[in-house]
Amino acid sequence: MFHNRMKLAIKPNNPMRTQSSSIIRAPSLSNLHSEKTAVPKIDFVVTGATDGIGKAYAEELARRGFAIVLISRSQEKLDDVSKAIASKCGVETKTIAADFSAVDIYSRIEDGLAGLEIGILVNNVGISYSYPEFFLNVPDLETFIDTMVNINITSVCHMTRLVLPRMVERKKGAILNISSASGMYPFPLLTVYSASKAFVDFFSRGLQAEYKSKGIIIQSVLPFFVATKLSKIRRATLDKPSPERYGWVTTALLPAKILNSHVMGMGLSQRARYLKKQKQG
Ligand SMILES: NC(=O)c1ccc[n+]([C@@H]2O[C@H](COP(=O)([O-])OP(=O)(O)OC[C@H]3O[C@@H](n4cnc5c(N)ncnc54)[C@H](OP(=O)(O)O)[C@@H]3O)[C@@H](O)[C@H]2O)c1
Repeated sequence: MFHNRMKLAIKPNNPMRTQSSSIIRAPSLSNLHSEKTAVPKIDFVVTGATDGIGKAYAEELARRGFAIVLISRSQEKLDDVSKAIASKCGVETKTIAADFSAVDIYSRIEDGLAGLEIGILVNNVGISYSYPEFFLNVPDLETFIDTMVNINITSVCHMTRLVLPRMVERKKGAILNISSASGMYPFPLLTVYSASKAFVDFFSRGLQAEYKSKGIIIQSVLPFFVATKLSKIRRATLDKPSPERYGWVTTALLPAKILNSHVMGMGLSQRARYLKKQKQG
């Protein structure tokens, strides 16, 4: 049976305590759970839970005894993560295999969540570019646009649509939306990604204003670089932490003009390296 110990307060430094390089636009979630709160059953849902930041969230939550619903596209990977969590943390997980690039998945997800009291939804799933590129040169642009919008934007809206009504009824609940620092400023050569992450941030902030008085907390998390498959950063460093250690950064303090030209420069050199590699076969 799904069960949790009602201990966690997800604050910026918790569950990923030693994070660097992340902005969190949010009220603290510390009021949501306390050891004294007698909430009967609260489950977490994490999308994109089989790798990177989503997996790190899931593992950290499980370590603290929370019951988690893991959603990702590959059942095999979900089973692996689920088994690892069960053996490391002794916590039960439920898995739902769903590909967020499609839009006809939500009634199945709704069925999978039926009967659970979802306390916290982590809208983490997201994809980026294979390499930085000018908009019109993005390979298979038409599919690319649909896929990115469905995964990065549509999933956030629909997952919220599925869990929010019950949270409002209970006057309690939280939604963590993983945006990106690239949603704070336009990231040339990653323009569609960057714009999709701005959507996630604005969606979160608007929704927080709408539902704050109903006891719901909506956090928008804006990480900078984290060493994951998505960022293609293989080795974690102090300023590009592993997903387990990612966190605060002072990007908010950087003047947009400097950041923009730095990012364009970075994108151009990454793009050049990628194209050179492609040519070399
Ligand atoms: N890494 C960074 O530097 C960084 C910075 C800022 C923001 N973010 C944001 O953080 C979030 C997580 O990124 P990450 O770096 O942890 O990514 P990641 O390592 O690539 O992990 C992505 C997760 O999403 C799943 N996924 C991908 N496409 C999917 C689909 N179509 N349907 C269902 N699941 C799918 C993956 O499943 P599979 O295992 O099956 O691929 C994996 O579990 C994203 O929203 C990203 O935009 C990341």
